[in-house]
Amino acid sequence: MSTAPDSVVVIGLQWGDEGKGKIVDLLGADADFVVRFQGGNNAGHTLVVEGHETVLHLIPSGALHANTVCVIGGGVVVDPLVLMEEMRALAARGYELAPERLRVSREAHVILPYHKAIDQARERLRGKGKIGTTGRGIGPAHEDKVARTGLRMVDLCDESAFRSRLEQSFREKNAYLKDVLDDRVLDHGALVDELLECGKVLAPYVTDTSSLLHEALVAGKRVVFEGAQGAMLDVDHGTYPYVTSSNTGVGAAAVGAGVAPRLLNTVIGISKAYTTRVGSGPFPTELNDSWGERLRRDGGEFGATTGRPRRCGWFDAAVVRKGVRLNGVDYLALTKLDVLTGIDPIPVCTGYRRDGASVDGLPASASELETVEPVFEHCPGWREDLSTMRTAGELPAAARAYIDKVESVTGVPVAIVSVGPGRDQTIFLRSFD
Ligand code: IMP
Repeated sequence: MSTAPDSVVVIGLQWGDEGKGKIVDLLGADADFVVRFQGGNNAGHTLVVEGHETVLHLIPSGALHANTVCVIGGGVVVDPLVLMEEMRALAARGYELAPERLRVSREAHVILPYHKAIDQARERLRGKGKIGTTGRGIGPAHEDKVARTGLRMVDLCDESAFRSRLEQSFREKNAYLKDVLDDRVLDHGALVDELLECGKVLAPYVTDTSSLLHEALVAGKRVVFEGAQGAMLDVDHGTYPYVTSSNTGVGAAAVGAGVAPRLLNTVIGISKAYTTRVGSGPFPTELNDSWGERLRRDGGEFGATTGRPRRCGWFDAAVVRKGVRLNGVDYLALTKLDVLTGIDPIPVCTGYRRDGASVDGLPASASELETVEPVFEHCPGWREDLSTMRTAGELPAAARAYIDKVESVTGVPVAIVSVGPGRDQTIFLRSFD
């Protein structure tokens, strides 16, 4: 592994599912801390180590390295039941996370059962106009956070205060579920008790992660910040309203982890060699034909969280350029290049056109983005199986030319190429300066 910088932020440049988990796991081998800073268990980060697959939704992808401390920052929304289940599943596989190895911010907001019920009931009511959320309660939990009615991990650990505030919230949310969303009400008694049990187990893990990370960074420790979702799902800069409820970029790493922005050194943007998205919303290079099916089949493009088939399309440089600009990306990691084997030529979208005129960047409105026409260049394909290659020298000339094309249309050097899900199926093209 090439020398990793002291603090590195890893973020997705598309609509999520770019393969951030694998890259974070690789960088995590050298890291003292791996930090989730936004999102929640809507994420699904898949790690494959020696043939064994681990899917993490909430716990940072440093969990499989014995000397790495995993931190869930204050910007994450935490479902305590999911967190405990994930800890149990990891322990059963020999990855026990004692409190010294898993630190959870006392400021992180808690996803409560009514958040999930509201998320799912709203999606049902939206019918065809649904966002296609993961149904994990992410949006409603963020709403309560911003409305200043949320409950945080620090509250979960304070039994009497938590019980009375939660009972009050249940009364209000049950009325909303029944009267506005025409849904069933929740029996809060058992749910409150279950959550308080979680609070007791999790209390030793809950701490001031902002100070912990500040001290680590000023002491020169290695910290990897693990983004979830991707730039196009960012609530401000993504394809609104078909987005998640958090900011997904570098700014969110500083805010969500509670560290000063100037302590973040290097930004690695992750992009697939093609494009996918789950859920609704515009997707200019989407393929609703046998090419899309082929990418889905060869890329195993089914959601790690919900199992939904992902929508697939060609690489879209307009999308990736926007993520690069927003986040000051220093290096790209290009994932799933092996999936393109056998496609010849390979279309690459370099920008958009509408009514014969070129379109500058991405239109802000989802309906306008639906109407753009992608402009394609075609790269020569290759037939060799890349999945066994480990060095740049082994790559066929056409695969190297495809990487060069990605660099030229995004303006960012590709430092890592992933040619399969395994840790070892990785080619390092340059070290991080
Ligand atoms: P939510 O985050 O569950 O509210 O879902 C909002 C949108 O973001 C939906 O289109 C989801 O499919 C999408 N989404 C949320 N998390 C992820 C992720 O980790 N990968 C890909 N898409 C995601």
